[in-house]
Amino acid sequence: MDIAHTPASPEGNPEMADAASQPKQPQLILRSDYKPFPWLLPDVSLDFKLSLEKTRVSSRLEVQRNPNAVPSPVLELNGDGITPLEVLIDGEVVNSWVLEDDKLLISLSGEAHAVEVVTEINPSTNSQLMGLYASNGMLCTQCEAEGFRRITFFPDRPDVLSTYSVRMSGDSVQFPVLLANGNCVASGRHQDGTHWAEWHDPWPKPSYLFALVAGDLVARKDQFTTMSGKNVELAIWVREGDLERTEHAMESLKRAMKWDEEAFGREYDLDLFNVVAVSDFNMGAMENKGLNIFNTKYVLAEPDTATDGDYDAIEGVIGHEYFHNWSGNRITCRDWFQLSLKEGFTVLRDQLFSQDMGSAPVKRIEDVRVLRSIQFPEDSGPLAHPIRPDSFREISNFYTSTIYNKGAEVIRMMRTMAGEERFRKGTDLYFDRHDGEAATCEDFVQSIEDGAGLDLTQFRLWYSQAGTPKVTVRQEQDGTTTRLHLTQSVPPTPGQMDKKPMPIPLALALFDRQTEEHRGEELIVLNEAEQSFEFSDYDAAPIISLNRGFSSPISIERNVPREDLVFLAARDDDPFARYEAMQDLVVSHLVSALRGVLSDADRADGQEAILKAFSAILEDSALDDLMRGELLILPSPAYLSEQLETSNPQAIHEERERLKAWLGTQCAGQFEALHQRASGGAYSRDAAARGLRKLKAQALIYLAAGCPEKAAKMAAAQYHSADNMTDRQSALIALAGLDVPEREEVLDAFYKRYQGDALAIDKWFSIQAQSLHPKAIEHVKALAKHPDFTLKNPNRVRSLYMAFAANPHAFHAADGEGYRMIADCILALDPINPQTAARFVPPLGRWRRIEPGRAALMRAELERIADAKQLSRDTFEQVSRSLG
Ligand code: PHE
Ligand code: ZN
Repeated sequence: MDIAHTPASPEGNPEMADAASQPKQPQLILRSDYKPFPWLLPDVSLDFKLSLEKTRVSSRLEVQRNPNAVPSPVLELNGDGITPLEVLIDGEVVNSWVLEDDKLLISLSGEAHAVEVVTEINPSTNSQLMGLYASNGMLCTQCEAEGFRRITFFPDRPDVLSTYSVRMSGDSVQFPVLLANGNCVASGRHQDGTHWAEWHDPWPKPSYLFALVAGDLVARKDQFTTMSGKNVELAIWVREGDLERTEHAMESLKRAMKWDEEAFGREYDLDLFNVVAVSDFNMGAMENKGLNIFNTKYVLAEPDTATDGDYDAIEGVIGHEYFHNWSGNRITCRDWFQLSLKEGFTVLRDQLFSQDMGSAPVKRIEDVRVLRSIQFPEDSGPLAHPIRPDSFREISNFYTSTIYNKGAEVIRMMRTMAGEERFRKGTDLYFDRHDGEAATCEDFVQSIEDGAGLDLTQFRLWYSQAGTPKVTVRQEQDGTTTRLHLTQSVPPTPGQMDKKPMPIPLALALFDRQTEEHRGEELIVLNEAEQSFEFSDYDAAPIISLNRGFSSPISIERNVPREDLVFLAARDDDPFARYEAMQDLVVSHLVSALRGVLSDADRADGQEAILKAFSAILEDSALDDLMRGELLILPSPAYLSEQLETSNPQAIHEERERLKAWLGTQCAGQFEALHQRASGGAYSRDAAARGLRKLKAQALIYLAAGCPEKAAKMAAAQYHSADNMTDRQSALIALAGLDVPEREEVLDAFYKRYQGDALAIDKWFSIQAQSLHPKAIEHVKALAKHPDFTLKNPNRVRSLYMAFAANPHAFHAADGEGYRMIADCILALDPINPQTAARFVPPLGRWRRIEPGRAALMRAELERIADAKQLSRDTFEQVSRSLG
């Protein structure tokens, strides 16, 4: 390619500058097209002249030909919305470059060159929050996946690893704190009131892990001594008033560092570890090397503002980002198709960490609940994709529950099959073999195979096949032999009509009906389409507890007699299986009711069985309260609708509410007593006290459904006497759903108490948007006009509209008003923040699984979005796949 002709500077060619703002024709990118980059960039130097409106970025790239790639005479650098002000090769200003689409193409003749490019950006107008942006007067970056190209021209792909030296200078009043990756190596002041700092990160990294922060921040500081005795300075940076709220995050960080040493043998590798909290952030947090950037939601906590759930989430996310230092940073991804290599593995690591820090069974149940209510629907809808996708148009759309949560489940299955010790040998080998590399999912599987001594040939299908496998179970008793006849099928998903059987590890236990005991847990692996397993010496058909601990991420179809489920719900020694039996009991009842195949007598029987299991849970003195609270949670509407080919979400909601109300009335006395027992103790974060708060919340939920007046009084009293956010929130959730005078009063009290506290006000928005109140739609419309509402802050947008889209009775209003509101939100948000806008498409994309009347309305809204001019690549891709 000859590109060394007419120079195209932005001034010289106005069309060029325009091209950047034109809607891009979204191109399909294929995994099979991977090619190594023709150039190596061992060293990168960046110089930032910081200012909110105009930041000047000068980059210097040392480039060398990559001996392992097809050579090219051109250096192709990605850009997005930027233009080069100046290009230098080996110190000389050159014109031998062109800007083609968003790419800067520079002709290079030799083996190695120094390439310098100058750009200018405006952080204060960067509402996408990708690249360098301003948030509350501070500057920060977000580069994953493709944000670095909005800062400077660069081969913005994860397999180009460089060491970075960063120099930045800026106003010392506006930006007293200057941070980047690695270690601060020098700093100083200029005469003109500006100051500067130089940072160096010795570890080669891809551009998506670059980070810079400049602002008026204060830090909680601490230290950690690593297993080999090295001292690490820890700092969590926040805005002035937020310092007291960082203690839990800091404690979580130290626990995470220790845990990773013990559980995975991973030691931290820099002298500094910085965490910065920002209130404008598209995601939860980001693992930039040595400089994690967090959504404030996952850093700030004190009892008055954060719920028990928030505390747990902070511990989990702090752990997650820290664990990325090895699973993601030391070993990164070759290309974005391998995203689950770092995300699936790191989610598993954070799940195991949280299991070890608190109640392992409760954590496991929570993780499975998320999987089933978010990932299962994704896997059965138009956006289904394998954990290692084959194609995408916009990578931001692939930060999904499938990549993260199913990715974690797939690795967890390997761990289950290998056992903990052998799995550790596999991960040790992986870290050893691929340290410093940009690796693939295949590299990971191969390491586990070699290190743990497993044959994963067939197991690799879990990486390439989408869809939740369905396993059917038939139990047969032949004399004293018990046979389990199992079948498996993986449903068709977009682009994948035929699937092969996969290995499905099933942990099981057979309970003897006489002794009510089992002979120990076993692991069987179903790897054919149809397979039978035999168990001998059972006088009578045993009660089978299957997929214990949720050993495989599958759905199971099986007719278990109600009494057996009641037995397992009360007696299974695997807490997850116990929860599962309870869920099965409720799911089978509600699904029969929804299918209209329930006679009055059947309904009564079903309810009685549930009541019996419920009472056993309420009364069981051997249960801890956290677990008790967990067992009382009814299956989510999303999971219920997964059980039906097509459904009417409002009908599901009503049927579920009806059962709740019935249980609330039947167990009113028990719930009141429970609430009483759980009230009054002093606030503490220990498991017992948290268990009690969870019980209070559950008691209010059931009583609000069954005895609303009584519940309203209890909730108002709970609210007013509460000394913590968990109790305030659970009281408010109950009241928000009721048409009672206390509702308004407590909502106002909450608002006044927390006015100006963004995270607490987010809760105020989302509690109303997700409420059971019949007028929720009107409330949401009014809230959208509230002075505190803004489309510019992702947390606030999500707190209103994500909560609303998850509110089945309101979002699925029969006249389509809820769908219209979400579509309007997407259209208004798309020009501001496409990444966040696109995340509202999946709820509308579920139309194929919804009854025809509503489905047509949902489709119509998707079409209305598709017809809009200037749609972002993000939203375009999600809408077209959803209609497809
Ligand atoms: N990599 C981040 C994580 O999972 C998530 C993220 C993706 C954050 C993209 C920002 C942008 O830890
Ligand atoms: Zn992650």
